[in-house]
Amino acid sequence: MIVVFGSINMDLAARVPRIARPGETVLSRRADSFFGGKGANQAVAAARVSRGGPVRVAMAGAVGRDPFGSACLKNLEDNGVDVRAVRIVDEPTGCAFITVDESGENAITVASGANTALRSGDLPDSLLSQAKVLVLQMETPLADTLDVASRARHMDVRVVWNFAPVPPVRERAAMAELLSATDVLVVNEHEALATADIAGDTSGDDFLQAAAGLARSYGLTCIVTAGARGAYAIARDGSRIHAAAPVITPVDTTGAGDTFVGVLANGLAEGAEIGPAMERACAAAALSCLTPGAQAGMPTREALERHLAQG
Ligand code: RIB
Ligand code: NA
Repeated sequence: MIVVFGSINMDLAARVPRIARPGETVLSRRADSFFGGKGANQAVAAARVSRGGPVRVAMAGAVGRDPFGSACLKNLEDNGVDVRAVRIVDEPTGCAFITVDESGENAITVASGANTALRSGDLPDSLLSQAKVLVLQMETPLADTLDVASRARHMDVRVVWNFAPVPPVRERAAMAELLSATDVLVVNEHEALATADIAGDTSGDDFLQAAAGLARSYGLTCIVTAGARGAYAIARDGSRIHAAAPVITPVDTTGAGDTFVGVLANGLAEGAEIGPAMERACAAAALSCLTPGAQAGMPTREALERHLAQG
C-alpha cells in the first residue's frame, strides 16, 4: 500500500497573458475550479497508475464541512483512494489561487484552512503499518509531518518526501530532522538549492551539487525534477541516474511535480528500481501537462503503458 499524508485543496485557476507583479492587476477571461492540493494530487496520480496492479492507495488529510470539502472527498473516492483517514474539520477546505501564463508556467497562493488541522494521529498505526511507501509534502503542519515520518521509520516504511513548497528558513532544526527521516527526497531545481541552504549548505547554485550534498549528509536518495530535462537521482554514494522526459508542449504544468511523485511512489511500492520508476514518473508528469488543471491529465495505468510502448 501507498499512504499519502498531505494536503487537499480546491484550485481556482485563471489563465493570464503573464503573471501579475506586486501591485499590478492582470485581466483573465474566466476562473475554473480544479481538484488540487499536493497531497491529493499525489494520491490521485498514484491511484490512477495503481489501479489494475497489486498496490492500493490511502490518504490521510483534512477537509472542511463545506461544498469544496465534500467535492474533494468524492473526487478522491472516485479515483479509488481509500479516504478512511481523511477528517472533516471546522476550518474551510484548503483553497489554492493559481494563475497560469501562456507558456504553461504558474504562480500559486495556498490558503491552507483545514489542512492546518491535520494531525499525525489522524493516520492510525493500523493503516501506516500496511504501507510500503509513505508520501509526504510540505503543505501540512511540519511537526505532525515529521512525527508521521518518524513513526514510518520505526515500521520500516519507506519515506518519500516531496519538499514542496520550501518552508521558511526558521524551520531549520525541524528540516534537518525531516531530512534524516527521509529515504527518497524529491525536489525541483529551485527546491534543491533552497533545501540545501536551509540544511546549512550554502556552497553554490549548482542543483546537482546541492542534491549530492543532501544525499551524502542525510543518507538519502535525492531526486531532482528538472522539467523538460527530465529527472536526476543522486544516491548517498554520489552515483547519479538520469531519466529523460518526453518532449511536449505544455498547456498547464500545475501538478506535474505531484504526478511525478505519485507515479514514482507506485513504482517503488511495486518493487521497481529507482531508474525505471523515474522513467515512468517523467512520462506521466509530461502527459499531465497536456490538460488544464492538476489532476485531469494524470494518466491511468493503461494510458501510461500505451505511451511507454510507443517509445
Ligand atoms: O502542486 C500543485 C498544487 O499545489 C495545486 O494543486 C495547489 O493546490 C497547490 O497545493
Ligand atoms: Na495538467
